[in-house]
Amino acid sequence: MAIKELIAASLSVSLTLGLADTARAQTIKIGVVNTLSGGSATLGEMIEKGYKLYLKHHEKSLPPGVKLELIVRDDGGPNPDNAKRLAQELIVRDKVQLITGLTYTPNAIAIAPLATEAKVPVFIMNAGTSVITTLSPYISRYSFTLWQSCLPLGEWAARKFKRVYTAVSDYSPGHDCETAFTKGYKDKGGEVAGSVRMPVASPDFIPFMQRAKDAKPNAVMAFIPAGRQATAIMKAYGDLGLDKAGIKFIGPGDITTDEELPNMGDVTLGVLSVHHYSAAGDRPANKAFIAAWKKEYGDKTWPSFMSVGGWDAMDAIFYVIKAQNGKIDPDRTMQLVKAYKNPNSPRGPISIDPDTRDIVQNIYLREVRKVGGVLANVELETIATAVKDPWKEINKKK
Ligand code: DHB
Repeated sequence: MAIKELIAASLSVSLTLGLADTARAQTIKIGVVNTLSGGSATLGEMIEKGYKLYLKHHEKSLPPGVKLELIVRDDGGPNPDNAKRLAQELIVRDKVQLITGLTYTPNAIAIAPLATEAKVPVFIMNAGTSVITTLSPYISRYSFTLWQSCLPLGEWAARKFKRVYTAVSDYSPGHDCETAFTKGYKDKGGEVAGSVRMPVASPDFIPFMQRAKDAKPNAVMAFIPAGRQATAIMKAYGDLGLDKAGIKFIGPGDITTDEELPNMGDVTLGVLSVHHYSAAGDRPANKAFIAAWKKEYGDKTWPSFMSVGGWDAMDAIFYVIKAQNGKIDPDRTMQLVKAYKNPNSPRGPISIDPDTRDIVQNIYLREVRKVGGVLANVELETIATAVKDPWKEINKKK
């Protein structure tokens, strides 16, 4: 090969490399810390199916040359040490620019200091304890807080039931729900008939539902992590005959999570809950979401509120990526996040409160009914609109 050709050949190699470098620079690495194994694997699966569906429908809308690389890690359940180690590896070894997922509160709490130290924006897809977003300026949330559902649930319950027994999982989201419900309920004149906290890992719900039954309340208000635990507590409620004794079962929407309704069966009929999302919601954006879900995952399957958390968090991630044309700056990302809005989420209009980086959304009262022969959380009314996290609002006023 003549010298001229050699130079031309090496030039073309370096040009190609140069292009490859640019392409690599446009690959955004996103770490996903999610619960994909253990007793609550179905929670992570719901979240994953939600954000993957979003990716399938929107990946083409990324700026030219921008690619996403998702590095997925399984935390196995509420396990803060595990989550912290995984996040550390994602940040230090894999050099992720963003982190998302976070099914469980203890795991989100554990990674908050890392987000601050490494300046890695975290987009929460589920974990719902109010305090989480206060633990790092790099955290924003696209799910819900337990205060958003349990406080209005308590206020509503005071109008319907004289005495309510509370039963919650003994960890921070359960404590939030118990405190919020009790405040709303007592402030409006309700009388708490008794309360119990149940273990988070592998609980046997029979003894707790028996205690609730013995207290002879008008209703039991329960919080458990959604998924299989919801089905197990519903079964204990039915097996011990609380429904037949005229004791109603109420709670945040976790207790009748949409995807588990077929496993729970007819004991759910008439169960009332308060939540930010129902698969039965008749908004056009939800109808489109359900149609896309069924096409992808099967006609007999349903997304849950967790799937919508995955979908919406990915929408916010796309928004910050597009606004920065694929170059992620952590502080600019957080500025953008504070202006994030989506009038057309499957759950209704949502936005991020710029003061708290927490989600603002509508809250619905729902009842399980049969629609076309299928159990569904039918939305009866929107009981509050554009709700900010009440825990932060109350504490701000102090
Ligand atoms: C958590 C909250 C939930 O509402 C749920 O169903 C599961 C987990 C949490 O914050 O840990």
